[in-house]
Amino acid sequence: MITILGIPGSLRRGSTNRALLESAGELMPEGARLEVAGLDGIPLYDGDLEAAEGIPPAVAALKDRIAAADGVVIATPEYNGSMPGVLKNAVDWCSRPPEDQARVLRDRPVAMLGATPGRLGTILAQDAWLGVVRTLRMRPWYQGRLMVSGVHELLDDQGRLTDARTREQLREFMAGFVAFVRG
Ligand SMILES: Cc1cc2nc3c(=O)[nH]c(=O)nc-3n(C[C@H](O)[C@H](O)[C@H](O)COP(=O)(O)O)c2cc1C
Repeated sequence: MITILGIPGSLRRGSTNRALLESAGELMPEGARLEVAGLDGIPLYDGDLEAAEGIPPAVAALKDRIAAADGVVIATPEYNGSMPGVLKNAVDWCSRPPEDQARVLRDRPVAMLGATPGRLGTILAQDAWLGVVRTLRMRPWYQGRLMVSGVHELLDDQGRLTDARTREQLREFMAGFVAFVRG
């Protein structure tokens, strides 16, 4: 069984990026599943905190989930034309200490997607992640792109992604990424 870890870059209960990942979990190809990880409980990165107390428990748990996954899908909101600080902060913590990067991040397949009520589908945020995943020597998947614009029109009143076209795009995206992960 291939396990993909989806990380939504938003703490909001009604996060549309989380909704995207939850739908992706329903649309996985045979032999693969997607788990969604939250960012709750991750403090702001502070070198003094790290020196005094080491890696916070919520970060250690996220690192272990990434290390156990066959690949990672980052569902990134876009804030002011880039990635949101809350998600960058979580990834920064996951890169600590540097000696643990090989276990957690290096060569880990990674894909980006994102949703926005706006018109450009998080393209700037997704591109901003490329420099980060390169620095971390992860293995980005370039073949698929999924930029969900006008997301509020694609959800039902429970906040679930119901739009048939987007769900099909999501199904194809996940199938492509899982094939990449399988090699
Ligand atoms: C500080 C801030 C900056 C934002 N900047 C952008 C932006 O540059 N581009 C964009 O498409 N949406 C922008 N938005 C709107 C977000 O896309 C929107 O809040 C989205 O729903 C966040 O994702 P979530 O639903 O997963 O929480 C911004 C929102 C905030 C709070």
